[in-house]
Amino acid sequence: MQIKQTVNLRKGVFISFEGGEGVGKSTQIDLLKKDLINKQFNVVCTREPGGTKEAEEIRKFLVTGDKKAWDPYSESLIFNAIRREHINKIILPAIEDGAVVLCDRFIDSTIVYQGLVGEVSEKNLLELHKNYCYDLFPDLTFFLDLSPKKGLSRALKRQNTIENRFENLGINYHQKILNGYYTLQKRNPRRIIKINADNSKENISSKISSSIKKILNIDE
Ligand code: TMP
Repeated sequence: MQIKQTVNLRKGVFISFEGGEGVGKSTQIDLLKKDLINKQFNVVCTREPGGTKEAEEIRKFLVTGDKKAWDPYSESLIFNAIRREHINKIILPAIEDGAVVLCDRFIDSTIVYQGLVGEVSEKNLLELHKNYCYDLFPDLTFFLDLSPKKGLSRALKRQNTIENRFENLGINYHQKILNGYYTLQKRNPRRIIKINADNSKENISSKISSSIKKILNIDE
């Protein structure tokens, strides 16, 4: 195996993970992180909603409690505000530092959850993103594709979590979310890579690792 550029990447690479509930994003981020660290990359893992101390506080209000607590319009403003802080404080500094940034959800979640499903105009969401979030898009996005039935049953089985506000929106809602991701992936086939998540975590991880070689200049 030969790694052409490791710690000397001129600029870092920004990779996001997307999909419905319980599709295994955090497991895959963990596995990829270990793999990349073994290959001498500097890796920064982060997530949305969250990433900064303040956004992690706000996360609680978004992902717990009554499913009707916020409507999609309010949600899109909050997600946008905490994303700006996340970009300024965590993502851009890491990219500048040459790191590989692995982010659990980013702008595509807003486009799907608040836009395609929540019916906030996509044009407005993209304008917000441009005006407040530097129009920053990931270099690569892995969309983990799993039926909502399987995903939700995994998500709801998680012990010790009260983070189930979105999970409680029901199977029809989550089928719409999945359809939203299909639409988005078809529109951005180069950036968004669809991975069948109805598979062992090892198989999924090896697909992700091989899809990432080109962008990280890894020869094996
Ligand atoms: P997760 O981190 O466990 O996937 O949960 C975060 C929830 O927040 C998930 O249900 C999707 C939702 N969400 C949005 O609705 N819009 C967004 O922009 C983001 C980042 C997350």
